[in-house]
Parts: sequence; structure tokens; C-alpha cells
Amino acid sequence: MTATGTSATPAKASAGYDRADWASAFRNVGVELDGVPITAVRGAIPPELQGTLYRNGPGRLERGGQWVHHPFDGDGMITALRFGGGSAELRNRFVRTEGWLAEEQADRVLYRGVFGTQKPGGPVANAFDLRLKNIANTHVVRLGDQLLALWEAAEPHALDPDTLETRGLSRLDGLLKPGEAFSAHPRFDPGHHGRPAMVTFGVKTGPRSTIRLMEFAVEDDPASGVKAGDLLHERRDSFNGFAFLHDFAITPNWAVFLQNAIAFNPLPYVMGRKGAAQCLQSQPGGQAKFWLIPRAGGAFAGQAPRIVDAPEGFVFHHLNAWEEGEAVVVESIYYSDFPSIGPDEDFRSVNFELLPEGLLEQCRIDLAAGTVSTTRLSERCCEFAMVNPEREGLPARFAWMAVAERETGNDPLQAIKKLDLHTGERRVWSAAPRGFVSEPLMVPRPGATAEDDGWVLCLVWNGARCASDLVILDAASLEEVAVLELPLAVPHGLHGSWAAA
Ligand code: FE2
Repeated sequence: MTATGTSATPAKASAGYDRADWASAFRNVGVELDGVPITAVRGAIPPELQGTLYRNGPGRLERGGQWVHHPFDGDGMITALRFGGGSAELRNRFVRTEGWLAEEQADRVLYRGVFGTQKPGGPVANAFDLRLKNIANTHVVRLGDQLLALWEAAEPHALDPDTLETRGLSRLDGLLKPGEAFSAHPRFDPGHHGRPAMVTFGVKTGPRSTIRLMEFAVEDDPASGVKAGDLLHERRDSFNGFAFLHDFAITPNWAVFLQNAIAFNPLPYVMGRKGAAQCLQSQPGGQAKFWLIPRAGGAFAGQAPRIVDAPEGFVFHHLNAWEEGEAVVVESIYYSDFPSIGPDEDFRSVNFELLPEGLLEQCRIDLAAGTVSTTRLSERCCEFAMVNPEREGLPARFAWMAVAERETGNDPLQAIKKLDLHTGERRVWSAAPRGFVSEPLMVPRPGATAEDDGWVLCLVWNGARCASDLVILDAASLEEVAVLELPLAVPHGLHGSWAAA
């Protein structure tokens, strides 16, 4: 495992990994650990690193001999690593969702999954069963005294931030209706309008789709009586067409949504032949749109949204957005098409060569002219990109992201890249050939003034050990600071967050 600068990473002609190593991460998590002390096997945990790394992702992929059709259908399991005084403590817990509890008891699949998992018995057994299993597996964030396990199609589950014990479904003090969609991609405004806030949304889809945009306080403010978790602002806006919105971006004035040109034909889902997400398809000749909703407290508060034609391609995740004069700049990971795993494919033997890779692109939206210009920022397959959280919604110089080991082409994510968005200079830390990275989280050093002063925390699947390592990198140099070998095997996961002590 090494860090390299721009010129030291040779381009590789073919994949340098063993598929069995990659696939060995798809397994059930069989233990729940409770505050196990963890020491570094290499390097040392920085004493200034004080807080908790929370990660969410599928922890149960097989039940009663039946595998999920797609890992995204796996039940949410939270991993928490608490750091302080140069030491670390590990805990993990499944989210006790209604579906997980029922299936634990029955030891068989009782629910269909959105990404194609079906109940045993074929289409006859699955047709017209349109219940959603809220699997709480996508993201985990701290809001007030709650830890929220998020899944975008329904309300969050509230957990105890210390013990990870599930408190139950949360309607956020009656704010959400039963089953109401609540995004798994909140954005944390570092203080564009005086106080930090969690900005998030829920989307109700149909021939017209409605976005509910919500802003929550994330700190107590005794002067105003506002408490962490209080709703500060909300608004609802409706748009033409079926909306598939996984992520969004914020700037001080705007919440930026990218409505991909995608069509949804629910018939195979209703008839028990496909999962709902397998019924999403790129719409040939369709027009993607940027929907820009004015934020409360901004210069356009209360005004109608702006709608601008967007370039072709499919986006799950954005890196960041910011404003420059009358332009809004959005950086996103673009796929040439919507990637999905068909009903007859096994996700463990998926052919990466046939799937589109994610590429980082910058779109400059000129609001006065209603036009967009696009620039490719990198040719290397990437996912899970972020800027320093203090630069969220603002111009940022550096980005950290998970990338493939080779320079071009689609492969599993095996390395972490730091990209200088001004100069194009990059540094890479690689876990190849036997390691596979998850989403990197950049944690600023307390009191830091430089944008890249801090650490990058990343859970790595170690194929040699068939278990997970937590790697701490120097955010500026991407040199290894510490490696912690966890007594836990965490399958390839989704999103996580850092809660400072
Ligand atoms: Fe996501």
C-alpha cells in the first residue's frame, strides 16, 4: 500500500486484481461487536483525531440459502469507530428494521428488494406485492441526539449514537408522514447563512414529481432557542416528469438537482418479474434537466425554481457545487448510461468491462443565458467524491475520491485519489492488488487553516485477510498515517459520516 504523485502511477493495460478477492467481501456479517479496543498494526492513530466514524452498508446478503439479487438490497448494518487520545474502539450493529426482525425470525426472504431480490416462488409469489422493505442501508448521519440510518424511499431509523441500539422508525417529531421519502443524501451547510445546517429533501414521484426541501439546525443555539434537529425551513416544488433523485448539491443560494433523462415502466415490478429499480431505463432522446430551487436565507428565497437543460448521461453522486457571478458550477460523477444488473445476472460475476465507468465532470450553468458548458475533470473511473466539509457549497481546491487502480476503463475501486481542481495535479494511495476501498471521508484537523490539512479515513476490504482494515491517510500527501486491522468483515459498503467529539 503506497502513495504516489502524478507521474509515479503507471497506466495499466488490464485489471490488476483477483475477482475472488473482490467477491469475497460479499458475505453476511455474523457478529455484533461492542466497544472492542483497536490498535494500529502500522503507524499511530493521531491523538487530535477525536470523534466517531460511522459507516452504513449492506450487512446481510444471503438468507436461507438465497442471495440478494443486488448488494443494495442487503440489510443495513452500522459500523462505528470511536477515536480519542490516540486509541480507537469498534462497534457494529444491524439496524433493527421491521423487515430484518421478521426475516431473522423466519430465516428466509419475506420481502422483495428494490434492486431485484425476489421472494422464493417466482413471479406468482411476487406479483402485486408492492410493500417496500425499509432496509436502512444507505447512509448514517448524526442529527441532534439521534443517529439516523437513512434509506431514501422511506423515513429514517433513529439509533443511539453511542450504543447503535435501534430506537425505531423516526418521523422527526411528526415532520414526516408514515412511509414518507427522506433522502439518504443530506448536505451539510457549514454556515452559509450564519449557522450550520443539514439540508436534505424527500421526493414524491409520479407524472409530476414533488420535491420537499428541508433545512435542519445541527447545533443548539441558546440565544434563539433553536435546538439541534429543529426544522429551520422547508418548501415544496413540483416538476413535470418522473424524478429519480438520489443526491443533490447545495450552494448558498441554491439547492441543485439533476433530473436524469430516465423512464420508469412499473409493469415488470408489479407483475413480480423485476425489482422497482430494474424498471428504470435511460430514455432515448430524453432531456435531462437541472432543477435549481432557491434556498431560504439566500438572494432568491421564495422565488420559483429555475430549470435548465442538462447534458446527456446518468449521475448518482455530485462532488460539490458553488456560485461564480451568475453561474452555478456543479461537479458530478457521470455514467454514459444507467448501470443496472439484469434479472438473469449474478452481481458477483458482473463484467466490469461492459458497465459504464463513473467520470468526474464539471457543468457550468449560466443562469442568465440558460445554458450549460461541460468540462471533463478526470479520465479515471471514480466514485464517492468529496471536498473538505468546510468548503461544501463553496469553491474548493481539493477533492478526495475512490478510484480504480488503472488510469482508464472500469474496474472495482482500489485506490484513493486527491485531485487538485485548479491544477489537475493528483496524488494516489493504492490498496491494490488485494485491497478494495470504500468511500473516503476527509476529516479536517481541528483548527486547520489549509484546505487539505487533515486526514482521510477509509474502510478497506483486505482480500488477503478476508476482513476490513481502517486506513488513515494524511489528507495533503496521502501518505499512510495508520492502518487498523479490524476483527470484522464489512461487505463493500455505501455512505458514512464523521461526528466530531
Ligand atoms: Fe449515494
